[in-house]
Amino acid sequence: MPSTSSHSPGKAILFGEHAVVYGQPAIAVPVLQLNATTYVLANPIGKPGEVSIEAPDIGLFEMLSALGKENPIKSAINETQKVLKIDHLPACKISIVSTIPIASGLGSGAAITISLIRALSKFLGQELLDSDVNAIAFEVDKYYHGNPSGIDNTVITYEKPIYFIRENPFEIIKPMFPINLVIADTGIKSSTREMVNGVRQRWSADEIKYGGFFTEIGSIVAEAKISIENGDLQKLGSLMCQNQEILHKIEVSHPTLDRLINLAMKSGALGAKLSGAGGGGNMIALTDKDHMEEIISNLKEAGARMVIKTRVEGRKR
Ligand code: MEV
Repeated sequence: MPSTSSHSPGKAILFGEHAVVYGQPAIAVPVLQLNATTYVLANPIGKPGEVSIEAPDIGLFEMLSALGKENPIKSAINETQKVLKIDHLPACKISIVSTIPIASGLGSGAAITISLIRALSKFLGQELLDSDVNAIAFEVDKYYHGNPSGIDNTVITYEKPIYFIRENPFEIIKPMFPINLVIADTGIKSSTREMVNGVRQRWSADEIKYGGFFTEIGSIVAEAKISIENGDLQKLGSLMCQNQEILHKIEVSHPTLDRLINLAMKSGALGAKLSGAGGGGNMIALTDKDHMEEIISNLKEAGARMVIKTRVEGRKR
């Protein structure tokens, strides 16, 4: 059996995180500068079913049989086997490496899962359709996040900018002009599950107030889609700032995120906000080409851990 590999990008949520869990639209883009890669290597001298897992980025060096049922890597393998109707795996070594920072809003969990599903199904000689990969990854994401909307697995499976509403077919967005983004990591780890649970508790305590926040975010997202498609980047930037204000109100920002967001704005960004679950993790800034380097160097100087630039291609240059 030949060895296989597959890699998946990271992702950034441009608009609508958290509200998307409550049925509002959101916009996400793949981040191709970051990726998770899975290698499945045949072990011709191993016994059938002998599968070892190596994932140094999460400190995992184990036999598959030793992992608990709830482990996301084990569950990705189990769900893939179920769909492929394969009861027993041949002896192999599964090795996973990732450049996507963990627990920081850039989709590391979903990227690991999707690269694993694809590499394993190829190894087993039955490549899956994207729709199957996406469905398996959504099931697995429940182990990471409890109640995911499905946006992370969808944008990472399809590797395209998407307009996403929970439990609805997603739409691929085609920007008029390229969208240049700077992404900066606060270095503060944050659990999506805890952030989503915190919002749920506050929403349960005041459904009218929080429902209002989510509806406001939904309107911003709808306007943002139009701005992206029409190439109105000034407007897009100001919508990002409006979205951030509401994310602040629902208590998912963090003083370090606020500091880096303000700094990006002072350095000439068109808009900036947190991206993902918040509580730490990453912020994103929309910029024109002229201000990009200044924003990057100021964010680095202010202590951001990792600063990268990414670009969503447009129909026109
Ligand atoms: C996480 O990337 C985005 C959240 O909206 C959670 C979700 O949509 O599942 C915070």
